[in-house]
Amino acid sequence: MAERVLIIGGGGREHALAWRLAQSPRVQRVLVAPGNAGTADCGKISNSAVSVSNHAILAQYCKDHNVSLVVVGPEAPLAAGMVDDLSAAGVLCFGPSAKAAQLEASKSFSKSFMDRHGIPTARWSSFTDPQEACAYIRGADFPALVVKASGLAAGKGVIVAKDEDEACQAVLDIMKDKAFGSAGDTVVVEELLEGEEVSCLCFSDGSTVAAMPPAQDHKRLLDGDLGPNTGGMGAYCPTPQVSEELLQQIKATVLQKTVDGMKEEGAPYVGVLYAGLMLTKQGPKVLEFNCRFGDPECQVLLPLLKSDLYEVVKDTLRGQLASNPPVWLDDSAAVTVVMASEGYPGAYKKGVEITGLAQAAEAGLQVFHAGTALTEAGGVTSNGGRVLTVTAVRPTLDDALRRANRGVGAVGFPGAVYRRDIGHRAIAYLRRSRL
Ligand code: AMP
Ligand code: GLY
Repeated sequence: MAERVLIIGGGGREHALAWRLAQSPRVQRVLVAPGNAGTADCGKISNSAVSVSNHAILAQYCKDHNVSLVVVGPEAPLAAGMVDDLSAAGVLCFGPSAKAAQLEASKSFSKSFMDRHGIPTARWSSFTDPQEACAYIRGADFPALVVKASGLAAGKGVIVAKDEDEACQAVLDIMKDKAFGSAGDTVVVEELLEGEEVSCLCFSDGSTVAAMPPAQDHKRLLDGDLGPNTGGMGAYCPTPQVSEELLQQIKATVLQKTVDGMKEEGAPYVGVLYAGLMLTKQGPKVLEFNCRFGDPECQVLLPLLKSDLYEVVKDTLRGQLASNPPVWLDDSAAVTVVMASEGYPGAYKKGVEITGLAQAAEAGLQVFHAGTALTEAGGVTSNGGRVLTVTAVRPTLDDALRRANRGVGAVGFPGAVYRRDIGHRAIAYLRRSRL
């Protein structure tokens, strides 16, 4: 049967999801709500104006429009119970339940969960009283310098402080000045971990874990990992710093343990599970869980998926990952460079004209749109903080890094901010290992 799929979200991740789902011969149409200029009337893909906050209206829309599968991109609708509500209304929906999404939506839940199940993570404590949090920061016998709003804060609720004073100030900003609103009613204070940061994601059908190749994001705005934290300025995959052996260790000690633990606690985890990890001298430790694909990790993972994404999603939902594990390209690497608006991650202008999209496509780059909109005249303008992710897929990582980092120059808009050193840790690692 020809299927109609609805994707929830409108960023680069959702454009990549739409692009891959549209490649499935089983899929007749991909709707994206709200989508962006990249998902507006492009082959099988089009945007939908349905409101996604009212789950009853959304369920009715799916029935009226013969949508047979909903795929949720971002965390907020998952935490708000979209999967629970659509499933109860008889609409098949890909992603974890609200209870399982707590792994991302509540840092205090996820930290206690990790302790309960012996999953390696930074030492920590959570507080509802700012004075107690500061006493912990000053009294801990390890550097307790990372302060996190426990709730969802659009990826911005984490402060990595230089010293105890700055950490205590962060507690006050979050708890007293409500820098992240009610997400900061509870704070988690944790040990500063050192090492290389990687993103290890998997599909989970509730029991079986199918690990994806390891990826690495670049959280800081500026070259050399300087400047403020962002949603992510670029990514590459696979990450040579994670050997096959280390990936198997991460799968066993983190991903499978998490999925087993959630099942044991009566909240089976079905969907994509993302572990943000620090590779410390004592081994990999979890920095955070996300209950969805990463953005921009998705834009380098999906181009490397050899299997049909639609079939993988269906197998995940049917609990059949053990018999049908997804297959990945093992002779290619992908790199994506994010182009952001001037001022991001702070205030930025919208409506700036974007040029060079056709030239980038001609140069063999895959441009995933994030914050973009179509003009009435058919042009494309910026409409968000992260505007585009420019992706290169090549046989080697070196080649993909060169293509993406240079090719990004083909696309442009006034004030565009992007890093010119995506993949620098992989380059340094490969150089060291070739010596
Ligand atoms: P999170 O949203 O929890 O991943 O935190 C955002 C970023 O803060 C991470 O990607 C890390 O770069 C950094 N971070 C979080 N926790 C720690 C930690 N315990 N030690 C060092 N850096 C951290
Ligand atoms: N790239 C980090 C995230 O999606 O949370």
